[in-house]
Amino acid sequence: MVRLAIAISGQGSNMRALVAGMAADRRFEAPLILASRPCPGLDWAKEQGLETALLPYRQGADVAEAELDRLMTQGRVKGLLLAGFMRVLSPEFVKRHEGGVLNIHPSLLPAFKGGHALVDFWASDAKESGVTIHIVTEELDGGPILAQVPVPRQKSFEAFEEAIHQAEAKLYWPVAQAYFTR
Ligand code: GRF
Repeated sequence: MVRLAIAISGQGSNMRALVAGMAADRRFEAPLILASRPCPGLDWAKEQGLETALLPYRQGADVAEAELDRLMTQGRVKGLLLAGFMRVLSPEFVKRHEGGVLNIHPSLLPAFKGGHALVDFWASDAKESGVTIHIVTEELDGGPILAQVPVPRQKSFEAFEEAIHQAEAKLYWPVAQAYFTR
C-alpha cells in the first residue's frame, strides 16, 4: 500500500479531490495532511478523522522541514503532494526527496511562475492559461512537467478562478496516482 502526504495552506479544495481519489483506490492508504498554518483545509481534514499535523513554520523553516522529514519517515510516506502549499521547500529538502514531491500550479508553466499566477495572467493579454502538475526541483515552479490542461480566459476573474479550480480538481489525482504506482 502506498501512503502519500498532502501539504496545504488554505481552503484545501485540491486536497479534498486528492483525498476522494485515494479513498477510491485500494492501493493507497489514507493520507497524512500537513499544513503550513492553521487553515480551513486543516479543519476539514481533522473533521474527516484524517491524520493531520501543523508544521511549526513559526519556529522557522529549518525546524518545520525537520518535522516534515520526521513525520514522513514515521508515517512511511512515499510521496508528498503540494496542494496550495504557500511555502517554498529548501533545496536541501527537495534533494533529500528527489522525485518524491509533486506540485500543482495554476498556469501553463513556464508562463506565470510564482505565487500570483492567476492575477498575473488576468493582467496580461494572454488568451488562455491553465493548470500544470510538475515534479518539484530546486528551481521554483521549474521541475519536469507531468501534465497540463488549458483553461481559456473567462468573462470575469471570478469565473476564470472557478474554471481553474475545477480543472485542478480533475487533473491532480489521476496524475499523482499514475506517478506513484509507476
Ligand atoms: C490553487 O489554485 C493552487 O493551484 C494554488 O493555490 C490554490 C489553492 O487552493 N497554488 P486550495 O487550497 O487547494 O483550495
